[in-house]
Amino acid sequence: MSLVIFIIMRAITKPINIFFRKLLLDDVESLVDIEKENTEHPWTAPHFSSSVVDKNTLSIGLVVEQKLIGYALALVVPESADLLNIGIHQNYKRQGYGEVLLTYLLVQLKEAAVSTLILEVRVENHIAINFYQKQGFEAFGIREKYYSNREDAKIMKLHIPY
Ligand SMILES: CC(C)(COP(=O)(O)OP(=O)(O)OC[C@H]1O[C@@H](n2cnc3c(N)ncnc32)[C@H](O)[C@@H]1OP(=O)(O)O)[C@@H](O)C(=O)NCCC(=O)NCCS
Repeated sequence: MSLVIFIIMRAITKPINIFFRKLLLDDVESLVDIEKENTEHPWTAPHFSSSVVDKNTLSIGLVVEQKLIGYALALVVPESADLLNIGIHQNYKRQGYGEVLLTYLLVQLKEAAVSTLILEVRVENHIAINFYQKQGFEAFGIREKYYSNREDAKIMKLHIPY
């Protein structure tokens, strides 16, 4: 399913074409490219491939002017979901696209009768923590040495509000 929206973004004065669609295996190369620029601990092609084909994972791509610039993947279990990954292309950051993508994901989750979204984020990933806090996520615990480099994870959750 895709939805075409014309909106005026904060930093842009002309209307731009944005739509969302399910991620496909054909997207994996682009996803890996975005991910490599975004983090020292990127998901690899097999990570993305297995999530994209998993029937319990909701995957959403954000396309701006025909270019895939963002992705969000959430594993859905009855009534709650785990945000597995979210990212925005380096050249499109801090322009509101992450918020637009997360809002769309929340609408899709609500339609799937999910009321709580949970995530783990590296304790040193202050940008992502700021991002999640602005969207209303609250921290409720730490998973010690959660990541392969033994970094702790902050656990956050959001009650989906509509
Ligand atoms: C986290 C991420 C998805 C945010 O996407 P984005 O499109 O840049 O974010 P937005 O422009 O929608 O910003 C929304 C809010 O997030 C916070 N934020 C985003 N970038 C920030 C930065 N560089 N510094 C501080 N706060 C930031 C701010 O509160 C911002 O609101 P404001 O612009 O009104 O201050 C993006 O930075 C990203 O892809 N990061 C790398 C991947 C990652 O860490 N994913 C999370 C894994 S758990």
